Amino acid sequence: MPQLALRGALYTLIDDPFLHPAEDCARYEEDGLILIQDGRISAVGPFNRLRSRLSAEVPLRHYPNAILLPGFVDAHIHYPQVEIIGSYGTQLLEWLNKYTFPTEAKFNDPEHSARIAEFFISELQRNGTTAASVFCTSAPASVDAIFEAARQDNMLILAGKMMMDSHAPKNILDSAQSSYDDSKALIERWHGRGRCLYTVTPRFALTSSPGQLKLAGALLREYGDVRLQSHISENRDELARAADLYPDRANYTDIYDHFGLLDERAIYGHGIHLSEGELQRFHDTGAKIAHCPTSNFFIGSGLFDIEKTRSAARPVTVGLGTDVGGGTSFSMLQTMSEAYKMAQLRGISLTAAQCFYLATLGSAESLGIEDRVGSLRAGYAADIVALDPRATPLLELRSEVAESLDELLFALMICADDRAVEATYVAGEPVYLRAQG
Ligand code: GUN
Ligand code: ZN
Repeated sequence: MPQLALRGALYTLIDDPFLHPAEDCARYEEDGLILIQDGRISAVGPFNRLRSRLSAEVPLRHYPNAILLPGFVDAHIHYPQVEIIGSYGTQLLEWLNKYTFPTEAKFNDPEHSARIAEFFISELQRNGTTAASVFCTSAPASVDAIFEAARQDNMLILAGKMMMDSHAPKNILDSAQSSYDDSKALIERWHGRGRCLYTVTPRFALTSSPGQLKLAGALLREYGDVRLQSHISENRDELARAADLYPDRANYTDIYDHFGLLDERAIYGHGIHLSEGELQRFHDTGAKIAHCPTSNFFIGSGLFDIEKTRSAARPVTVGLGTDVGGGTSFSMLQTMSEAYKMAQLRGISLTAAQCFYLATLGSAESLGIEDRVGSLRAGYAADIVALDPRATPLLELRSEVAESLDELLFALMICADDRAVEATYVAGEPVYLRAQG
C-alpha cells in the first residue's frame, strides 16, 4: 500500500530536448497522481487512471495550484562558501585568494562545519533542490559534516574532500599522500551509506601537484563506483597559469586526461574556454560539464557556449550548477533564467524544456544518478518539488496571460525564485513546506 499520494499537475522530462524533438522529451499531466511507497514512486500518471489505488488509509496531499516536478539536481556547489556569496569586485584567482581560501579555513573547526552544513542542506530544500554534487574543504571533517546533515533527511548528496597540495595558504593545504589517505578513509566511511555518494575532488590543476593528480586517478581506479569533480577552463588567467604549471600537456583538458581523470564518472565545472579538440575529448571519454551561469556572470569568467558544447555531432553531457559562493543564488529557477540569458548573448534561445531538462534529468545524467532521480518515473526516488506559478503578484499576473504550458513554464523559470517552492519532498518525506501566506 502506498505511504503517500501527491495530486496535482505533473511535468517531467524523460529524454534530452537538446538531441530529440521536444514532444518526445517532456510529459505533462494536467491532473496527475504520484503514488509513493518506501521512499520511491510506485506509480505515476493521470489521477483518473490511478485513483482506484487510493484508499482511506493513504494520505493524499493535493496541490491544486502547483506543478509537481522532479526535485532539482544541482550539479556543482560549494557548501563552505555560503558566507561569501555576493563578495565584491574580483575575478577568479583574486576571488579565491581574497574571499574563498580564508572562509574555507574556518572549516578546520568541526563545529563551524556542522553549523554551515545544516544551514546548507535546509537552504537546498527551501529552493526545491533534492540532490547536489558538493565541494567540501580540504578538512576531512568538513565531509563528515555534510554527509551527517544530508543523512538526517535522506538527501542524495555527492561530496568529497577537496584535494589541494599547492599554491594556497598553508592552513588549507594537504599533501598528495595525506589527500589520498584521507579520501580513501572517507570513501570507506561514506560511499553508499544511505544515499551518500563519494566524489574524488581535486580542486583544480592550479592547486594540485602532478603527484596529487596521479593519486586522484589511483582512487578512481581503486573504487569503480565513486565519481570525480573538479574545475576546468573557467577564466583566462587560470588557463595561462595551468599552461605554465603543466608545460608538457597539450591543453588544460590534457592535464586531467594524462592523470586518468577524464571518464564517464567525471564532471568539471565551467568549461567556458574549451577548444573543439578538448570538447571532442570530453565527448569521447564521456566526461561531463557543469554549467554555472550565475557564477560565470558574477565572477566575470565568460559566456559558456551551450550550443557548441551540446552539439548533436558530438554532444557533451551538461548539468546545471549554482556554484555558490561564486554563483549568486541557491535557486535552480534563477540559475535556469541566467542560463537562458547567457545563451541569448550568444544568439541562442533555450526552450523551457531545455532549461528544465538541464536542472533535473540533465544534471542527474551529468552525475551518473539518472537511474534513480531527475524524472518522475515508477521506481525512481520520490524526490519531488511542488512549484506555484502564482507565488507572487507579478507571477500571478504573468501566469494569467500565458497561452501554453511552455509559456507558463518559461515565465516561471524567468520570474520565480524560492518563493515559488510550495513543498519539497525527499524520499517521500516532506522536508520543506512553505508557510501559508
Ligand atoms: N576554481 C577552483 N576553485 C574554485 C572555486 O571554489 N570556485 C570557482 N568558481 N572556481 C574555482
Ligand atoms: Zn566551483
